[in-house]
Amino acid sequence: SIPEMEERVRTIKDKFGSKLFIPGHHYQKDEVIQFADVTGDSLKLAQVSAKNKEAEYIVFCGVHFMAETADILTGNEQKVILPDMRAGCSMADMADINQTERGWKVMQENFGDTILPLTYVNSTAAIKSFVGQNGGATVTSSNARKMLEWAFTQKERILFLPDQHLGRNTAYDLGVPLDKMAIWNPITDTFEYDGDPEAVKVILWKGHCSVHENFTVNNIEQVRKSKSDVNIIVHPECSREVVALSDYCGSTKYIIETISKAQAGTKWAVGTEMNLVNRLTNQHADKEVFSLNPHMCPCLTMNRIDLPHLLWTLETLNEGEINNQIIVEKSVSKNAMIALERMLQRA
Ligand code: 13P
Ligand code: SF4
Repeated sequence: SIPEMEERVRTIKDKFGSKLFIPGHHYQKDEVIQFADVTGDSLKLAQVSAKNKEAEYIVFCGVHFMAETADILTGNEQKVILPDMRAGCSMADMADINQTERGWKVMQENFGDTILPLTYVNSTAAIKSFVGQNGGATVTSSNARKMLEWAFTQKERILFLPDQHLGRNTAYDLGVPLDKMAIWNPITDTFEYDGDPEAVKVILWKGHCSVHENFTVNNIEQVRKSKSDVNIIVHPECSREVVALSDYCGSTKYIIETISKAQAGTKWAVGTEMNLVNRLTNQHADKEVFSLNPHMCPCLTMNRIDLPHLLWTLETLNEGEINNQIIVEKSVSKNAMIALERMLQRA
């Protein structure tokens, strides 16, 4: 039963004490998040993993790229474990290292040595390593603006992987016009751009988040029509059109803080993952908090981490067995670390 499973998790957590550390991303289910030692957005979870020197086991409640990042930052000394290996990220899967190396060659032929690569942390360790090797850095949704500003002090142009929306929204915020942004299509190995190539400032990798693309202009029109004085707040993984019509846009941490600070009685349509929206609805009964898309949008891979998987992971650890350890090879982690450090110094 659920109470029995919860009790088992508690007992094992108590037994391991500070030898066991459980970070949990805001998109995780309540049944898991209740056991997290710390909750946060991608940036915060990367930072706490880097600082934690005590834990022998880091049971990461989030998705694969986050566990990889934790393994890189902890210097491979601590064991990072992902309770379900199927918890990937469809966006991170949209940029593989072979495509990236192929595309980079064409970009260099077109633009010479004028491009700095930046990658959203939602990417594989191999991509982070590629970026680190080429002078670039990682970014998260909460520091993308700062990192883009820095990147433009280094090179004339930026390649932004793998989320075209975070790249476009952030560059637009910084004053880069849309007609100076080209899209790189990694399937056809071509640019999707019909302006003057010399004018290109940002090259956007053609990737996206399959959860956030479900929030549409139509959703916004509907909610504005049906609710007066509604505030619309979305994650920057939403499209430019959606962000432009919203009132607020920011990382999961920003969304949580903005709604927490809002006055009682205010109305909030939220464009982000379902578990976080439901949690905000429950935590703020004095406000009206609901999903911008009435059908709710779950991240299926985040949801693969559930109470049975968490319990299984802890039970096996308790029996001295380690399953699902995430290990980033030294040859990859070395340069990936450089990309992450360039961000953490500035974040
Ligand atoms: P943040 O928590 O950094 O806003 O990222 C959201 C996300 O999509 C993680 O996969
Ligand atoms: Fe990846 Fe989108 Fe899920 Fe975040 S919400 S883990 S970007 S698929």
